[in-house]
Amino acid sequence: MKEQLNAIQSAAATALSTAKDLAELETLRVKYLGKKGELTAVMKGMGKLSPEERPIIGQIANEVRNFIESALEDKKTALETAAAAEKIANETIDVTMPGKRPCMGKKHPLTIVLDDLKDIFIGMGFSIVEGPDVETDYYNFEALNLPKDHPARDTQDTFYIDKNILLRTQTSPVQIRTMEKQKPPIRVIAPGRVYRSDAVDATHSPVFHQIEGLVIDKGITMADLKGTLEIFVHKLYGNDTRLRFRPHHFPFTEPSAEVDISCFNCGGKGCRICKGEGWIEILGCGMVHPKVLRGCGIAPEEYSGFAFGIGLERTTMFRYDIDDLRLFFENDIRFLEQF
Ligand code: DAH
Repeated sequence: MKEQLNAIQSAAATALSTAKDLAELETLRVKYLGKKGELTAVMKGMGKLSPEERPIIGQIANEVRNFIESALEDKKTALETAAAAEKIANETIDVTMPGKRPCMGKKHPLTIVLDDLKDIFIGMGFSIVEGPDVETDYYNFEALNLPKDHPARDTQDTFYIDKNILLRTQTSPVQIRTMEKQKPPIRVIAPGRVYRSDAVDATHSPVFHQIEGLVIDKGITMADLKGTLEIFVHKLYGNDTRLRFRPHHFPFTEPSAEVDISCFNCGGKGCRICKGEGWIEILGCGMVHPKVLRGCGIAPEEYSGFAFGIGLERTTMFRYDIDDLRLFFENDIRFLEQF
């Protein structure tokens, strides 16, 4: 029996020394110390021993059990330490590795031009105001001197929500909202989205952007309008650009004009961009109609002012020589990353 016990001890020692992981260790524990294990099996036979032999063999058996138990414990600690060390080694960070370059976002071309435009007007003392995209008939038409049956309403194919509520077709209603809230002097621009029921093509979209301008004070004249727009055009298109005011009609201004600039591409000789004209139309403007002023509680005998409306898509297309407006809204990354 003594030899059997010694054999178990040395077999266990060998097996434990080569165990590779905690799972294998557990298998060995069961094999040697478990209820059906080898050591238990030997000890079950102790009953057959003589009373003299029993304590001697019992002591040896206890020593073997203690030996295996502490060997198991030692091996477990060793395996755990090794595993922790390996984990740390695998997690080492090589700080000399090249970094991952973050993808930089860019401003949309419409945003670039709008930001430039805002800077130019802020530099002339304007502040920026906003109005709602969903408007009432009153602000979009009526208060701008376009009564219900006015033919000019037909030129702006309106998205009606109901008889009275619509998607604004122009940023001009922000003029009215501003004059209702603010007493002169007023000097604001109002950029924003506008909506018209137009089919999509290279120059039309049912959603586009305008920048409205409004100046009201005592003694404002057409000369102030011309001077302001000249500074704006020179800053945006360069000092050599010439301006031309063409008589036009807008219900909310009197007199009204459209402004052309000399073609920035050919300088006025005529080319593809200006379609051989030498001039490019860039905005509508005029002196605020006395009826509009009065409707907002501003006395036309005391105050006068000018207004203008600029199309942001057109302006941006000229600025970057873009020939199709759809590019602004398709979000093709190959287009957007050029700016
Ligand atoms: N609201 C006009 C349009 O959408 C543009 C415009 C013209 C605005 C003359 C103005 C202006 O403020 O004075 O066609």
